[in-house]
Amino acid sequence: MDVISVIRTKRDRGELSDEQIDWVIDAYTRAEVADEQMSALAMAILLNGMNRREIARWTAAMIASGERMDFSALSRPTADKHSTGGVGDKITLPLAPLVAACGAAVPQLSGRGLGHTGGTLDKLESIPGWRALLSNAEMLEVLDTTGAVICAAGDGLAPADKKLYALRDVTGTVEAIPLIASSIMSKKIAEGTGSLVLDVKAGSGAFMKTVEDARELASTMVGLGTDHGVKTVALLTDMSTPLGLTAGNALEVRESVEVLAGGGPADVVELTLALAREMLDAAGLTDADPAKALADGSAMDVWRRMIAAQGGDPDAPLPTSREQHVVTADATGVLTRLDAYGIGVAAWRLGAGRARKEDPVQAAAGVELHAKPGDEVTAGQPLLTLHTDTPERFAYALEAVAGSYDIAAPGTEYSASPVVLE
Ligand code: URA
Repeated sequence: MDVISVIRTKRDRGELSDEQIDWVIDAYTRAEVADEQMSALAMAILLNGMNRREIARWTAAMIASGERMDFSALSRPTADKHSTGGVGDKITLPLAPLVAACGAAVPQLSGRGLGHTGGTLDKLESIPGWRALLSNAEMLEVLDTTGAVICAAGDGLAPADKKLYALRDVTGTVEAIPLIASSIMSKKIAEGTGSLVLDVKAGSGAFMKTVEDARELASTMVGLGTDHGVKTVALLTDMSTPLGLTAGNALEVRESVEVLAGGGPADVVELTLALAREMLDAAGLTDADPAKALADGSAMDVWRRMIAAQGGDPDAPLPTSREQHVVTADATGVLTRLDAYGIGVAAWRLGAGRARKEDPVQAAAGVELHAKPGDEVTAGQPLLTLHTDTPERFAYALEAVAGSYDIAAPGTEYSASPVVLE
């Protein structure tokens, strides 16, 4: 087999055979196929697509490139969720302990943020002492003793995807449904969860800008999970405006703890409960009551044990930013738009995110929202607070904020998009 013929097949809109797919994934993992050759193939896939058979085979080949985890010895059913990523999307933080408090085991392998979307591991690392890197044995131990674990995927899990995702990130080939679906599902299937709930986001702050594209991504991923024996369901959710009132690392941990304490913004609570119900149903725990587990403190108890089991101090004060800048409303009226992408870029530029994989992030950087779409605002009132340790970043972040919101005349009718679209 030679790689040029594989690239030419896809470049000329042909179908890749099973043998071509198995060979190219294996040869790329072993570095026999070079990065520049794989990026040409990824671009051909982005431009010309793949059919369902090709996507299924590509996913199976990525799973076969590494180890598979096995949670069958656990006494509880396993349930996991994956979000396709958004701005202010801290849902994993309250959700994992909540679902564990209701009787499931939640093995939550998570990622770091890149670009304008945040990463769960970056958020949790703002808790003093908390460790994202666990061995497989440590991960199982935390899962078994607390019911939930949130950690980085080990190097042995779908190594083909690790290489390919890093390459796509720097070659403009992330936004391809076959590549996104196979990337996410290869890791989730190799992880060994019994059931999986996908939170597929649509809107300006998401990979998928339209509901139609989000629907296609969701149905592709549900098909892949189901074919591999993982009970998989998907919700389509709105990402046109940030979730909750914060985008940033420590800022989002603080808001998640408010949710676990029975408070927090209504949209974060609504989505956390909607995803918890889907996960519990998929795990066969249909009698569980996640709203009760939030209200009676049992989800908070699991959170505290889970953070402590990974070296974190749940009582330690979270870092706060050295500098703040308040953006005020320039008119009186109704806030009719607060754009997720613009706020995500501002948080990233303030230091909450990274431009390259190896960049550090600032724990305290980010954006706090003082109003959400539909709220009445008065000229001069605080709309946003920008947080950073490096104030030279304010000007750059303010460029992203400008044009990211609209204030319409007082009394303008506003109809909010639902949090869960489908
Ligand atoms: N998340 C992933 O793990 N892979 C993608 O391709 C996109 C988002």
